[in-house]
Amino acid sequence: MTAARLSQLHMMTQLYEGKAKILYQTEAPDVLRTVFKDDATAFNAQKRGQIIGKGEVNCTVSAAIFRWLATRGIATHFLEQTAPTEMLVRAVKILPLEVVARNIAAGSLCKQTGLPLGQVLPEPLVEFYYKNDALGDPLLTRDRLLLLELATPEQLEQLRNLTLVINRHLREFFEQCEITLVDFKLEFGLDSDAQLLLADEISPDTCRLWDRAETDPQRRVLDKDRFRHDLGHVEAAYQQIRERVLAVAQSGDG
Ligand code: TMP
Repeated sequence: MTAARLSQLHMMTQLYEGKAKILYQTEAPDVLRTVFKDDATAFNAQKRGQIIGKGEVNCTVSAAIFRWLATRGIATHFLEQTAPTEMLVRAVKILPLEVVARNIAAGSLCKQTGLPLGQVLPEPLVEFYYKNDALGDPLLTRDRLLLLELATPEQLEQLRNLTLVINRHLREFFEQCEITLVDFKLEFGLDSDAQLLLADEISPDTCRLWDRAETDPQRRVLDKDRFRHDLGHVEAAYQQIRERVLAVAQSGDG
């Protein structure tokens, strides 16, 4: 589909409203419109609030990163950003998995294993969580994942390898932003040809991003942990990420 044709697609029926985004159908059956919201939740929606400007930051940052990943040969659902908080994406059937990659111990890894916050992992860790709010998105073992038929063994291997490749590209990108990529969550979907595409978003909501110039464990945080743990200056951190990501993306050598 041409860029001109894409920009003519109008918003139609709302398909789904999630915690951070709303999905709409368009006239094209294989194209959806995503609207990013300022609403923020944490701890499976036990904590709720708003981060002013988040919708715009997450849409713009995700668009820039999806474009950049495409130049590295990563197939994504992203088609075009059509407004500050809106993008067109290819319609996919989302796999009910949250694939987390970790480079440095933080968050639930520290909580569940006792590893100290900030410990650099000897090699990146890839984990699969069951995308199921009612169950609280539990961590899956390989056998449980296969038992529930959430993916085939081949898809599992493909997802793991792809996530490791994406991690290498994202680390390189964020390094240029003077940011350490601590960990992040990805979602994948299958298009109508059963091709596996990177989907959802890549943003300060879904990544842990630490300012490389700061060593203070609170001041260095430039992601949703500021909201999760009431660290203050949440909006300023999101704007920092937007500015740094756009500067690198627009420099062309990102
Ligand atoms: P965790 O340490 O809480 O398991 O989070 C790992 C990464 O996944 C972190 O970058 C935040 C991201 N994440 C989401 O994007 N959505 C979620 O629902 C959760 C729990 C984490």
